[in-house]
Amino acid sequence: MSGQGVLQERGGLWSGRRWIFEKLPSTNRWALDNSKLLRHGDAVVARQQTAGRGRFDRIWQSPGTENLTVSFCIDVDPAKPPPSLLPAAAAVAVRNTLFKAGAPATLKWPNDVICCNRKIAGILAEQDSLHENRIILGIGININPAAPIEVENGRLPAVGLHQVDGGCRWGTEQLLSELVIHLELWLKAVQNDPHTLLEEWRKYDALAGRQLSITTAAGRINGSYAGIDGQGRLLLQEETGNISAHWAGDVSISGTIPAGTGLFQ
Ligand code: BTN
Repeated sequence: MSGQGVLQERGGLWSGRRWIFEKLPSTNRWALDNSKLLRHGDAVVARQQTAGRGRFDRIWQSPGTENLTVSFCIDVDPAKPPPSLLPAAAAVAVRNTLFKAGAPATLKWPNDVICCNRKIAGILAEQDSLHENRIILGIGININPAAPIEVENGRLPAVGLHQVDGGCRWGTEQLLSELVIHLELWLKAVQNDPHTLLEEWRKYDALAGRQLSITTAAGRINGSYAGIDGQGRLLLQEETGNISAHWAGDVSISGTIPAGTGLFQ
């Protein structure tokens, strides 16, 4: 490996190697560009990203303080159906990791992890165009962003683990070790037992019972949230009563907030 990074061989539950960099433009970009060097389970970690990417080509800001920015190389089983729920599985794994670290996080379709009405983590899964069955799974978790009020990752303002009441003072290493345990569990579930994954999602679904609008390439549609289906699509009951299914889009909450939920005020 060139002088910029360190390669660690690892044992343990998921014996992927760690490619550790002080600074990269984007761990997803590096993983896609260097995919031939990677094996299933490898993790590319950067202590700082200068051009982190989010969904819809948004910028993922991780100012040079403590944040976890990591991309995992995942080779899926070609004999099984394509795992369109993989990003959802990653979101559940991140949510459960953060919960273990003291943050009462919830899930917002398609794969945002939120806490105290702010975004604490985001996921960007990208197909490797050279390896048909390979997905680069990028995860950004805010631990201690320098200016959480001003930093927007996506459409919600950001919050870091250390800013959440009861959030542990974990650093990137501890968070990554815990994340790997949860990821292994939920990435297995997504191919073998997707119902368990959907049940887990429902338990922490921040959109349950909400009136939404979703903006897609086709425009904006209002309706009531009707869950996610077995392929990971958002189901929306439109004002006509018709239920439409959406692969992608930006969701915003409208209408009355049920009392006592504390989210999305
Ligand atoms: C989103 O919420 O829009 C997804 C954000 C994904 C950010 C992570 S940070 C590690 C990896 N490298 C990137 O450039 N992006 C992902």
